Parts: sequence; C-alpha cells; structure tokens
Amino acid sequence: MYRKDKNLTVETIFQPVQLGPITLRNPIIKAATSEGRSPEGKVTQALIDFHRGFIVGGIGMTTLAYCAISKEGFAAPGEILMIKENIQGLRKFTEAMHEAGGKASAQLGHAGPVATKKITGVRPVAPSRFFNLTSMQLCSAITQSEMKQIKIQFADAAEVAVKSGFDAIELHFGHLYLVSSFFSPWLNKRTDEYGGSIENRTRFAKEILLAVKERVQNQLAIIVKLSMDDGIKGSIWLEESTETARILDETGVVDAFELTMGSSVSNQMYLFRGETDIDGMAATQKGMMKLGVKWFGKRILGEYPYRDLYMLESARQFQTTVKNAKLILLGGINTFEHIVTAVEEGFPMVAIGRALLREPDMIQKMKDNPTKSGLCIHCNKCMFSVYSTTNCIFMKNYATTTQVAFV
Ligand SMILES: Cc1cc2nc3c(=O)[nH]c(=O)nc-3n(C[C@H](O)[C@H](O)[C@H](O)COP(=O)(O)O)c2cc1C
Repeated sequence: MYRKDKNLTVETIFQPVQLGPITLRNPIIKAATSEGRSPEGKVTQALIDFHRGFIVGGIGMTTLAYCAISKEGFAAPGEILMIKENIQGLRKFTEAMHEAGGKASAQLGHAGPVATKKITGVRPVAPSRFFNLTSMQLCSAITQSEMKQIKIQFADAAEVAVKSGFDAIELHFGHLYLVSSFFSPWLNKRTDEYGGSIENRTRFAKEILLAVKERVQNQLAIIVKLSMDDGIKGSIWLEESTETARILDETGVVDAFELTMGSSVSNQMYLFRGETDIDGMAATQKGMMKLGVKWFGKRILGEYPYRDLYMLESARQFQTTVKNAKLILLGGINTFEHIVTAVEEGFPMVAIGRALLREPDMIQKMKDNPTKSGLCIHCNKCMFSVYSTTNCIFMKNYATTTQVAFV
C-alpha cells in the first residue's frame, strides 16, 4: 500500500493518544469479540487471561465484549450483567489490564430485536412489532415507559463501569441491537417522537447518551459503536447514519465513534467479510434448523469476500459531519500499513477484532517487523466459536485456565 508520509514509522504511529479524559499508550483498541469465558455471567481467570494476552501483546486498550445493561437485554448465554453485584469481579479484570500496562473498556448494550425469549425469559422488544426470521422470534413494540427504564439502566451500568475501574465504556449503538434498531426505517415504524424523521429516530440514543454522561461526567471515556450501514434494503444507510453521528456528536459528550457496519438480524456476513462458513453455523443448530442452515445459510448470512480496510470508504463519509469526537477505524485491519493508512486518512485510532484473535501479540510483532502481515485469513471460523469459547481455530485453546467465577 502506498504511504504518503514517510515520517509515519513504528515510533511515530505507536504514540500515546488522547481519548476524552484518558490517554491510551498507543492507538490500537481490541474490538469487542464476545468471549464465552464467563459461563455464569461472572468474571473468570480465563476471561482475564484472554484480555491480558492482548495488552501484553502490545495494544493500548482492550474491550470487554457485550455486557448487558439488564437481563432482558442479554444477547447470548453467559454474558456479564453490568450490575453492582459484579463490581468485585470486574475490578479484578480492570486491575489486571492496568497491571499489564493497558486500559480497559466495557461494551454496554441491550440486544432488543437480537434477543431471544429462550435466553432472557421475556419476549424481545424492537421499536415496532417485528418478526426476526433469523431467531424466529416475534418482537413487541417497546413502550415509552420501558424506554425510560432502559435509559436509567444504561446510566446505572455506566456507573458500575466507573466503580469497577474501567477507563472507557463503549455504548453499543450498532448491529441492530436495541438502540440502533431505532435508527432503521425498516424496524422503526413508530408514530411517536421516536419514529419518523432521523432526528426522531436518533432521540432515544441521544437521551441515553446524555443520561450516561450526566451520571459518569468525566470519570471515563465514552465511545459509541455506531452502524454506518447494515446491508439491508430500507434499513440503515450512510445518508442517514452520517446525520445520526452529527446529532450525537453535537451533544459534545461522545469522545469517539467506532464505526461499524452490518447487523446480527440479517445478512450477517456484511459485517464480517471473508468466508461464509455454513458448516460452522450448521454445527451450532439442531434438527430441522441444521438442515435449514445448510440449505438457506448463504442466503441468510450473505456472501461478501474479504477486502483490506473494507470499512474505510464508508468511514470517510463521517469526517465531514463529526466535528468533536474522534473516529476509530474498524474492519479488516491486520498489517502495519493498514494502521498507517488509517492515521494518514485522519483516523487517530483503530479497532481490531479477528486479527488479534489469531495473534494476540500482533502489535508487538509489527513493532519488531512492520513489514510482516498479520496471520488472520478471515476464514470466520471464530464467528461460531462464540457459542462455546471464542477462539481462532489456528490458536491453541485459550480456555486452559479456570472458568470458575469470581464473585
Ligand atoms: C468472534 C466474534 C465475536 C464478536 N463479538 C462482538 C461483540 O460482542 N460486540 C460487538 O460489537 N462486535 C462483535 N464482533 C464484531 C467485531 O467487534 C468487529 O466489529 C468485526 O469483527 C470487524 O472487525 P475485524 O475485521 O477487525 O474483525 C465480533 C466479531 C467476532 C469475529
């Protein structure tokens, strides 16, 4: 890849970067990849070791994947509930990251239409009544009083993050989880002040953001993981998501947007790119569902070949509408040249998922030899390992340490 600025070297790239009230030792963030290392919804030594590996391997900050703000907001079994009863375990987590020299962020969210009754015990909610064909779940239209409760739960969860010693929180406003489903005209048919115009569809997100900020003030950095588009006809597209970003940015409380794409509701490979692993998905299903996946899997998941920096073109569109917050580039980053390109293009930070699952020490390796590419081949076999313990199939199993929960 062509490098415009010859001064961008390992020394100049891996420099500290300011993120709201905190400073990262370098601009590399481990993107949330659900871990499967908290079977009882509690922090375990295995979870700590997994994340510590990325910090020791050279990144600036790791992200504890999807922590639910309420039981109704769970997306999968074994997720951590962000409540005060879990502070003690979460403290062990953040202390270990700090001891290893890095920072810790916690992703906070409510699954909304991605949730299933089997896991939460209640019917999932969406902005409007909706049948999710992937989960075969009917979602009820969420009421304003439930939304009020959720705003409080987001603020409560953010306070738990502060008390647990996190340096940042990442509000999950992407992938058609509850908050981003409000942005989508496909899922949001509301006729109240939360539906209709893009201002109205962004209102819930904005209110959550302001409630969170009021509670935590400057005690940690606030990142918003925001969907740029989701590859679904009539759903989220750049023309509107750049406006969503502008509205949220104008509040002045977002320290950074981590720009993402795709969804967990439909066309899932749009987010991941690379091989569509039908056998991997079928293995997670039983009976007729298994057959259904084999027959229709590619149609449901979509097929999108991997491309270097595949989110870059879309992410560029946000540089004119976002004036206050920093932009974090995500998507297929696994060489030093990718990081240089991101910085040259005006993205002061990058987030990396799969390539770090493959090589937790990839950043250290880049520092030692910046010409060497990362080893991730985007086979996406890691995608289906989330149903047990998230792993790259080429790696030794990380879950060798105890999964016994801390209190
Ligand atoms: C195994 C796996 C689990 C993931 N879990 C989450 C998650 O919990 N929350 C989230 O926002 N994104 C999740 N993602 C998406 C990643 O954060 C990231 O957006 C995506 O993998 C693209 O980045 P990459 O090309 O660097 O992998 C997951 C991705 C993978 C591969």
